[in-house]
Amino acid sequence: MIVLNDIKKDAEIDSYFQAINVFLGEMGAIVHDYEHSITVAENSKLIMESLGYPPRETQLAEIAGYLHDIGNVINRYDHGRVGGVLVFSFLLRMGMEPEEIAAVASAIGNHEEQTGSPVSSVAAAVIISDKADVHRARVRKTDFSAFTTRDRVNYAVEDSRLKIDPKQRKITMELTIDIEISSVMEYFEIFLTRMILCRRAASHLGCEFELLINEARFL
Ligand SMILES: [Fe+2]
Ligand SMILES: [Fe+2]
Repeated sequence: MIVLNDIKKDAEIDSYFQAINVFLGEMGAIVHDYEHSITVAENSKLIMESLGYPPRETQLAEIAGYLHDIGNVINRYDHGRVGGVLVFSFLLRMGMEPEEIAAVASAIGNHEEQTGSPVSSVAAAVIISDKADVHRARVRKTDFSAFTTRDRVNYAVEDSRLKIDPKQRKITMELTIDIEISSVMEYFEIFLTRMILCRRAASHLGCEFELLINEARFL
């Protein structure tokens, strides 16, 4: 059975990760590095485990979380759906079963807010984990005057945490925002569609979604 460690050790996949960092660097886009992939993998595992999903489904969520942004090796736009197609080639080569590939590929193909839907528990876990990873360290630019609104909002986030309460079936995203840099309104302007997708994803997992910004409840 293919586990996350096999994916991490694979030279072909590793080359794609390195290329993505270079390509997105050229575009000045938000960082999509190993750290983001590992964070999304870990949080996907945390969500599935905490909510009592079976171990293999949890492992598949971890793999999908790690690979969710791999489509950026082709193009940043539509990287979710492109990534979903791309993983077939190497997961088949590695010997993963088709039904497991379907679970991983559909989660990857549904993680973007423009076209994604929580089509499964694995997809729902990946969506929430990806959208929760917003913070200052992901902004690549150093020249503040060149910041887009998205850069500024990311930069304003000093801390983001995900909490799962299995008893109350509640998933909470806790953000600390420096309002000198970006207002809470601006955060919503940029991230409202993501938060709505997170709420749908949480509901797929039988949970309520809560968003706390600077300790105040917004969703
Ligand atoms: Fe993505
Ligand atoms: Fe991502």
